[in-house]
Amino acid sequence: MASRSLLSIRDLSPLDVDALLDAAEWYLPRILAGGLKLATLRGVSSVLMFYEASTRTRVSFELAGKLLGSDTINVSAKGSSVEKGEGIPDTAMTLNAMGFGIAVMRHAAADSVALFARYFSGAVLNAGAGRGQHPTQALLDALVLRQAGVLAPGKHLAIVGDVLHSRVMRSNVELLTSRGLHVTLVAPPTLMPQEAEGALARLIHRGACEPGTVHWETNLDSVLPRLDAVMLLRMQRERMAGGLTPSLDEYSQLYALTERRLQLLPSHAVILHPGPVNRGVELTEAVYADPRCRINNQVAAGVAIRAALFCWAVDKPLIPKGQA
Ligand code: NCD
Repeated sequence: MASRSLLSIRDLSPLDVDALLDAAEWYLPRILAGGLKLATLRGVSSVLMFYEASTRTRVSFELAGKLLGSDTINVSAKGSSVEKGEGIPDTAMTLNAMGFGIAVMRHAAADSVALFARYFSGAVLNAGAGRGQHPTQALLDALVLRQAGVLAPGKHLAIVGDVLHSRVMRSNVELLTSRGLHVTLVAPPTLMPQEAEGALARLIHRGACEPGTVHWETNLDSVLPRLDAVMLLRMQRERMAGGLTPSLDEYSQLYALTERRLQLLPSHAVILHPGPVNRGVELTEAVYADPRCRINNQVAAGVAIRAALFCWAVDKPLIPKGQA
């Protein structure tokens, strides 16, 4: 069976991205309506390895796999041989020997998923690797932005918060700048990667996008009125070696999307957050009540994107034949 892996957003051509978004748009209403059951992945078993906490990503991969007829098996660090010291290569070879066609992996180390892929002969899908990449999140965000009319050249999106630790930011910057969007990173200096100072070329490995399309700012209030979309990031306390922000209280004073700041955001702009949300830190309750909020749309889009991606990974039609 032919297969291909998604380790980084750079593994996708612009045509791949368009085809995946088109297919996800086909799946989305059918998933929301309930009762979707396809046989596209019958005979293809998938293993979901989540060595880091996850709710929406893990559940959406599993749901998407089941909707397409794949047998899905979950593995977590706790209770697996990882606890006995088994490394990534041996884990990959073990799962390979069982004939899995697809492996989905989340891990705290940025190079973990690529390492796994070297020892696994099926498709490997990166579900979030350390501070590195989270390509399926960027795809689902792109779907939500496309549906809001924001996935277009010249549109302006800000990514706000814990940029330093964010794989969501890294994948999104690459995808969105390749589409001609202008991205502004907004964070206190202690949460901004060193490379972000100056030209974008130094932020993005291998110069995947044009310099000059990403900027960084420390002042959220000055950016908000110029935006078509704002993406808030979770403060990743589990990755902070200590002392990067004086206090969460101080952070939210400066960077939380509050009722007052909602008034600075244009009426057409949309609000995203990959979740999980620290309520009161990145945003206040008023955001959920705001018609511009797309946080739940992102969750639904996640199932649709992962369904399309499963088909892509094993070279099946992205949309069932005769349905396009
Ligand atoms: C993100 C992740 O795990 O990278 N969440 C997600 O996948 N929905 C962001 C985060 O953990 O803050």
